[in-house]
Amino acid sequence: MAEPVEVALGTRSYRVHIGAGVLDEVGARVRETVGTPSRIAIISDTRVAALHLGRVQTALAAAGFAAADVVTIPPGEGEKRLATVERVCEALAAAGADRRSLVLALGGGVVGDLSGLVAALYMRGIAFAQLPTTLLAQVDASVGGKTAVDLGAGKNLVGAFHQPSFVSCDVRVLSTLPPREVRAGLAEVLKAGLIADPELFELLERRGGEAAALTDPALTEALVRRAVAVKAGIVSRDERESGERALLNLGHTYGHAIEAAAGYGPVLHGEAVALGMVAACRVAERIGVTAGLEARVSRALVGLGLAVDLEPWLRPDVLAHTQVDKKRTGKALRFVLPEGLGRVRLHDLTVKDLAEYLRIPAS
Ligand SMILES: NC(=O)c1ccc[n+]([C@@H]2O[C@H](COP(=O)([O-])OP(=O)(O)OC[C@H]3O[C@@H](n4cnc5c(N)ncnc54)[C@H](O)[C@@H]3O)[C@@H](O)[C@H]2O)c1
Ligand SMILES: [Zn+2]
Repeated sequence: MAEPVEVALGTRSYRVHIGAGVLDEVGARVRETVGTPSRIAIISDTRVAALHLGRVQTALAAAGFAAADVVTIPPGEGEKRLATVERVCEALAAAGADRRSLVLALGGGVVGDLSGLVAALYMRGIAFAQLPTTLLAQVDASVGGKTAVDLGAGKNLVGAFHQPSFVSCDVRVLSTLPPREVRAGLAEVLKAGLIADPELFELLERRGGEAAALTDPALTEALVRRAVAVKAGIVSRDERESGERALLNLGHTYGHAIEAAAGYGPVLHGEAVALGMVAACRVAERIGVTAGLEARVSRALVGLGLAVDLEPWLRPDVLAHTQVDKKRTGKALRFVLPEGLGRVRLHDLTVKDLAEYLRIPAS
C-alpha cells in the first residue's frame, strides 16, 4: 500500500491512509496510534452502517479487539445539531465509555463533524479516528480537525478543533455512493487543484469523465491523495485558520450563499462550490488579476458533470447570504481570488464590490 499522507502538527500529527482496502486495516491502525483503548465506539449513519459497518467490525476483530459499541444516527445534515451530540454522548456513557475510549467516525461529513465534536466534548476530549465514506469527506471534511454542528442561525456555528488520531480513506466504499455525490465531491478535488496543484487540475481536465464514473481505482486514489496532500499541507502550516487556511474557502463565499438561498439540500455543497468557483473566477477576471480562467474552470467542471450556469443565482437574495457568512471579518468579505492554476490569494471585498463585479442588480 502506498505511503500515507502526513498531517504535520507536532504532537497532534497524524496520517491519512488512502487506497483500496485501507478500511480492512483499521484494527492495525488503532493499535499503532492509540494502542489499546478501553472501549471502541463506532458512530455512523444508518445508511452507511448498512453498507460498510461489517468491514470495520471484521477489521477490529482481526486485530484482536472486543466487539465495538455501535451508535447510529439517521442520515442527513438535519442530524448535525446539539440534540444529536447529547444523544450520542448519552449512548457512549450508557455503553461505559471513559477517557481512554476511542470513537471511530464511519460516514460522510455529517457523521465526521458530529463524531469529532462528540469526541472533543466527551469527558473533555477523547481520541477519535475518521473513516470517511463520501468523496467530500475523504478529500476535505475528515482532514484538518474542524468539528461542528449547526444552529438555526447558520451552519457549523458550534464546534471545536479536535484532530483525529488517524484517517482511513478507502476508495472502495465510494462505489456505493450516489453518482451525484461523487460529482459534488469532485468539485472540492478540482478546488484543491486550482488552489495549489496544477497537475491535479490538469488530471481532472483530461480524465473528468472517468473520475466521475469511478472507472479506474488508481485514478480515484490519485485524486484523493493529491487533494488530501493539498489540504494537509495548508492545515500543517495554519491549523486554526489565522491565515493560509482561509484559501481553502475558494468558491465558498458565493457557494455558501447559493446553498443557503436554496435552503440546504436542493443544491449539494459541492455543487454550490462549483458555482462559487465560477463566480470567484469571474470576479478575478473583472478585477483583472487573471484572464481566461472562468472558461477553463467551467470546462473542467462540465467535464465532471457539474452545472456551471451562474446566471440563475446572480440575485440580490443570494448576495445577501454572503453577509451572514461567519468567515467575514468586519465589513469586508475575505474573498479567495484565483490568479491562475495553483495560485490564489485573499482579497478583501465589500458586498457592494461583489455585487458590482458579478453585475447583481440592487433588489
Ligand atoms: N470539517 C470540515 O472541515 C468539513 C469540510 C467540508 C464539509 N464539511 C461538512 O460535511 C458535511 C457534508 O458531508 P457529506 O457531503 O459527506 O454529506 P453526508 O455525510 O450527509 O453524506 C451524504 C449522503 O451519503 C450517504 N453516504 C455516505 N457514504 C456513503 C457510501 N459510501 N455509500 C452510500 N451512501 C453513502 C449518507 O448516508 C448521506 O445520506 C456538511 O455538514 C459540511 O459542513 C466539513
Ligand atoms: Zn467545501
